[in-house]
Amino acid sequence: MTIRSVIIGTGSYLPKNRVANHDLPEHLNTSHEWIVERTGICARYLAAPDEYTSDMAVEAAKRALNVAKLTPQDIDMIILATSTPDHTFPATATRIQSKLGMSKGFAFDQSAVCSGFVFALATADTYLKQGMAKTALVIGAETMSRLLDWTDRKTAVLFGDGAGAVVLQAQQGTDRGILGSLLRTDGCGYDELYVNGGPSTTQTTGVIHMNGREVFRNAVHRLEEAVEDILQQCDVSQEEIDWLVPHQANKRIIDATAKKLGLPDEKVIHTGNDHANTSSASIPLALDHAVRDGRIQQGDLILCEAFAGGFAWGSNLIRM
Ligand code: ACO
Repeated sequence: MTIRSVIIGTGSYLPKNRVANHDLPEHLNTSHEWIVERTGICARYLAAPDEYTSDMAVEAAKRALNVAKLTPQDIDMIILATSTPDHTFPATATRIQSKLGMSKGFAFDQSAVCSGFVFALATADTYLKQGMAKTALVIGAETMSRLLDWTDRKTAVLFGDGAGAVVLQAQQGTDRGILGSLLRTDGCGYDELYVNGGPSTTQTTGVIHMNGREVFRNAVHRLEEAVEDILQQCDVSQEEIDWLVPHQANKRIIDATAKKLGLPDEKVIHTGNDHANTSSASIPLALDHAVRDGRIQQGDLILCEAFAGGFAWGSNLIRM
């Protein structure tokens, strides 16, 4: 019988410090109006100095486990999607494993920047279908504020910190679960959006550099491809989609994808206005948000999509 990877719990976490556009440092020489018009962002949450990616991931994971009515000992795999690990190595996922008190199974990090959660869901789905694990935590967690150049208004206004998690369980005889995933990369976009540091190059952490226009242009047309192709792959028509749960980089990019799908705005989950771009955390944060407020219900068909540095992009089609 076919094995499906079913989402049985969602959770998320935002740091306490909410910074509205009006609260941004004056030296950035920006305005609430400019940021809202170009991106839709009104605020972001920033981690406390002693708050790490693993701390936020653990909080989101605990909430997802609580919903799933499971304990950490029921989990046999953790995949953490992040570009902001606590340390260069070991994998931050192993730190999450020990902070949760989970002593079995395995845990590793996956890096595809803002598409990290889409890639991690696809990876977890494959592992569960192969029988390598039965119950997985898939987490997206980021302290993007640590990668920002706070003198660069082109990037500093765009990002925030946070974490989101789902519990995935291998089940048989169900029509729920991940129906399909589509993953793409094109390394020709490497220099358009990158962090100018790293262990093997500068031995520093570095800060984000982005050619915003080029990223925007690529995001719009490659996401069109990502949503069209996954629907075709899964033999699903666009009318069947109940919710679009997109990566929250820019409202204009999301609107373009929704338009392509013929989805009205009421069917699109928007959290970027309040959270900004939390990279790999943004999809699970948005998903948890809409599950908790009762919009997304069991049985709904949801489409997740993301575009990121690399370039890396993709989508997952999920029956909740
Ligand atoms: N406040 C005020 N003015 C600003 C700001 C700001 N925060 N930032 C830039 N400007 C100015 C620029 O200096 C420029 O001024 P000039 O014309 O005098 O030179 C003008 O605004 C236009 O700048 P652009 O960069 O061309 O603005 P654009 O309309 O392209 O919007 C943005 C910039 C919002 C970054 C947009 O390009 C975008 O969203 N790009 C895609 C981002 C994205 O999707 N990222 C993907 C994932 S992120 C990841 O993977 C980590």
